[in-house]
Amino acid sequence: MIDNGIDMSRIPQHVAVIMDGNGRWAKQKGKSRIFGHKNGVKAVRDTIETAAEMGVKYVTLYAFSTENWNRPKDEVTGLMELLVFTINKEIKTLMENEIALQAIGDLHSLPKRCYNELMRAIEKTSSNKRMTLVLALSYSSKWEILNAVKELASQVEKKKIKPEDINEELFTQHLCTSSIPDPELLIRTSGEHRISNFLLWQIAYSELYFTEKLWPDFRKEDFKLAIADFQKRERRFGKTSEQLSNVMQ
Ligand code: FPP
Repeated sequence: MIDNGIDMSRIPQHVAVIMDGNGRWAKQKGKSRIFGHKNGVKAVRDTIETAAEMGVKYVTLYAFSTENWNRPKDEVTGLMELLVFTINKEIKTLMENEIALQAIGDLHSLPKRCYNELMRAIEKTSSNKRMTLVLALSYSSKWEILNAVKELASQVEKKKIKPEDINEELFTQHLCTSSIPDPELLIRTSGEHRISNFLLWQIAYSELYFTEKLWPDFRKEDFKLAIADFQKRERRFGKTSEQLSNVMQ
C-alpha cells in the first residue's frame, strides 16, 4: 500500500537518529542552549509517533554521548533533569502506544536519580510490543566496541572460547545492541555530515540521510521525507544490481 508516496510494505525495521542542532537553534533565538534541548522534545515526540504509525519496530535516539560530559556543567545538569522529567511525563504515552523503552551506553555513569527513573521506565514498559525506543545515553561506539573486545579477551584468557571462535556473530552478541537488529537508516539533522562515534559497527550497511533542519524544527513531515528518500535507494550489500534483480525474479 502506498501512503503519501511511502510504500508501507518497505518500511525500515530500525531507524537511528543523531539529533543535532539544538544549541544553534537556541542561539538563533538568543536563548540558552538548554532552551534548545527543551524544544527538541517536541521533535522526539513527532519522530516516535510517526515511526510507530508507520510500523517501524526500533527507533534509536542519540540523546547523550560520552563526549557530552565535557559540556558546561549547567548544560549537562539541565539535560539530565530534562531527561528525567521527559521520561516521567511520557511514560503514560509509551504505555498507551505500547512502546517499550530501552537504553544503551554507560548507564551507571548517569546521576543516580536519572539512572533509577530510567530503569523504572524500562521495567514498566518492558512487555510493550508495538515498537522499541532505544535511548543512547552516555554512549559512544568506541567505548562499546572496546568493552566487547575486553569481554572476549577475558573469555579467551579463561579458556571459555578460542581466538578463532571470534566471528561477527559472537562479536555482535557482546555489543549493547545484541538484542536489536542493525539500523537500515540513520538520520542526522542540522546539516552536519558526521557519524560522531554512534553505532559504528551497526551502521556498516545503513543508508545515511542528512537534513539541514535543526533538531527542534524536525517534524513528522521531515521523518516521512527521510523514509521516502530511503525507499528510493537500492541497497546492494556489496552485490551488483544484476545479482539483486536475479534474486528478486
Ligand atoms: C544535540 O544538539 C542534542 C543533544 C546533545 C541532546 C538531545 C536531547 C534532547 C532533544 C532532549 C530530550 C531527549 C529525550 C530522548 C527525552 P547540540 O546541543 O549538539 O546542538 P548544536 O550542535 O547546535 O550545538
